[in-house]
Amino acid sequence: MYFCEIISDKNTFKMIHAHSGLRWVVLFLLIAAIITAYNNHKKGTPYSKDANKLGLFALIFTHIQLLLGLGLYFTSPFVKFEGSVMKDSLLRFYTVEHILMMIIAIALITIGYSKTKKTGNWNKQFTFYLIGLIVILLAIPWPFRGLQAGWF
Ligand code: HEM
Ligand code: HEM
Repeated sequence: MYFCEIISDKNTFKMIHAHSGLRWVVLFLLIAAIITAYNNHKKGTPYSKDANKLGLFALIFTHIQLLLGLGLYFTSPFVKFEGSVMKDSLLRFYTVEHILMMIIAIALITIGYSKTKKTGNWNKQFTFYLIGLIVILLAIPWPFRGLQAGWF
């Protein structure tokens, strides 16, 4: 009991702030990686670990966000598994829509990273990261969407 309370009160509080703040790092890195992949594609830069540092950092931070999100999913008061969830737009958003869209987006980004690493074709990373970024932007509970979330 005591353990559960610590997990759900203290750690949720910290995790939610890390998760909320890291969104900006993820968005910044994704945009930087997309621009870099585009430029590398145009210039015909050969693939190398060094040339893809931003692509790797963007991947790592999206994966960290996934891990934090999974931690929150099992502790958040907005995630519930009962019949009424689908009728409540706040509970439905966090229980179903947010996790589903984010996992799709993160999977696309991971596929893009792997494909470019395997084939050396920057266009794969550019396209998959761009679609992933758009899905992430749509799935973020921006304050103006009334989903009880802040800017940071
Ligand atoms: C629930 C958590 C996670 C899942 C399900 C997950 C899943 C995956 C998958 C499927 C790949 C693709 C491998 C490939 O095709 O090459 C991958 C790659 C990677 N992940 Fe994660 N990951 C998670 C958390 C993390 C975390 C927390 C970090 C870093 C702190 C991380 C760092 C990486 C890195 C660096 C790679 C790519 C390595 C490379 O191929 O160069 N992941 N992950
Ligand atoms: C790139 C991926 C992601 C981004 C950018 C992101 C962003 C956010 C943001 C901005 C919030 C609102 C935080 C606040 O209250 O200010 C949030 C909440 C939340 N996210 Fe994510 N998220 C991502 C992935 C995920 C994933 C994969 C999961 C689940 C596995 C998840 C689970 C949650 C949960 C449960 C909450 C609500 C927590 C609460 O308020 O109690 N997120 N997310």
